[in-house]
Amino acid sequence: MAKQLSGTWVRDQLLEELKPRVEELRRRARPPGLAVILAGNNPASQIYVRNKVKACQELGILSETHTPPEEVTTEELVALVETLNKREEIDGILVQMPLPAQVDASRVLLAVSPEKDVDGFHPLNMGYLLTGRPGPRACTPAGILELLRRYEIPIKGRRAVVLGRSDIVGKPMAVLLMHEHATVTICHSRTVNLAEEARRAEILVAAMGRPALVTGEFIQPGAVVIDVGINRITDRAEAVRIFGAESERVQAFDRTGSVLVGDVHPRDVEEKASAYTPVPGGVGPLTIAMLMVNTVEAAERRLGACSA
Ligand code: GUN
Repeated sequence: MAKQLSGTWVRDQLLEELKPRVEELRRRARPPGLAVILAGNNPASQIYVRNKVKACQELGILSETHTPPEEVTTEELVALVETLNKREEIDGILVQMPLPAQVDASRVLLAVSPEKDVDGFHPLNMGYLLTGRPGPRACTPAGILELLRRYEIPIKGRRAVVLGRSDIVGKPMAVLLMHEHATVTICHSRTVNLAEEARRAEILVAAMGRPALVTGEFIQPGAVVIDVGINRITDRAEAVRIFGAESERVQAFDRTGSVLVGDVHPRDVEEKASAYTPVPGGVGPLTIAMLMVNTVEAAERRLGACSA
């Protein structure tokens, strides 16, 4: 039986550790402030942003959400970001991805002041990451590193394979693992013999956005498997294929009409891995917790109270 690595357990620790730091900022100056830009009507983004705002409320971080319409232009978003850059009480600016298709996302991300870039997506902060300088790190990969640390899973000298090469997860994940002295391979949709490459991994991170793509043949017996995928399945036959006809998850599907599945096949990973992150309850909660960490750290830097 593989061990489940709980993202909620790590998240609770991270948030608990932030409480006195938020309290100290409130006492000395003011609460940290986060501005979220949610452009358009992407339903998954709406849920993510709601959860981010809720986490702010629970911690005593001030948050505000800007919701420009689906037709918003690049220029309008850049202008909004520039207004937020100038506001003293805003420490962090988060532009929820993906942006509507007509928007030039890279121009919007470039407009965010690097000091307020709580996602670590600005090219300057990406460069700081690559060259090992301090700075905000992309929340999902940074959260995964926290999880590996807190479960005392060794990284040094181990063979890590990252499936996916996105700017948000795959690339920063690979760099962080490399800085922890793993031997890292990055795979993607054009990789030849994907399963064979993945099977070399002692630590396997799946971030391709493809439901249950990582089946038993991708997993080395005893590997640690981190599942970044959050895919909503609405086809019952697919849910049955993935979870099994008798499973509780298919019963849940019958009540609600959909079910979440990661990029990793849930039954295969249980059989072959030594430890893995479940979906839900694995990587998802870590991303939000690390956003809170990055926001508090931005506030501490801006208010001259750096305790990190
Ligand atoms: N979309 C998916 N993940 C993320 C994230 O970590 N930050 C932002 N801004 N958008 C996302």
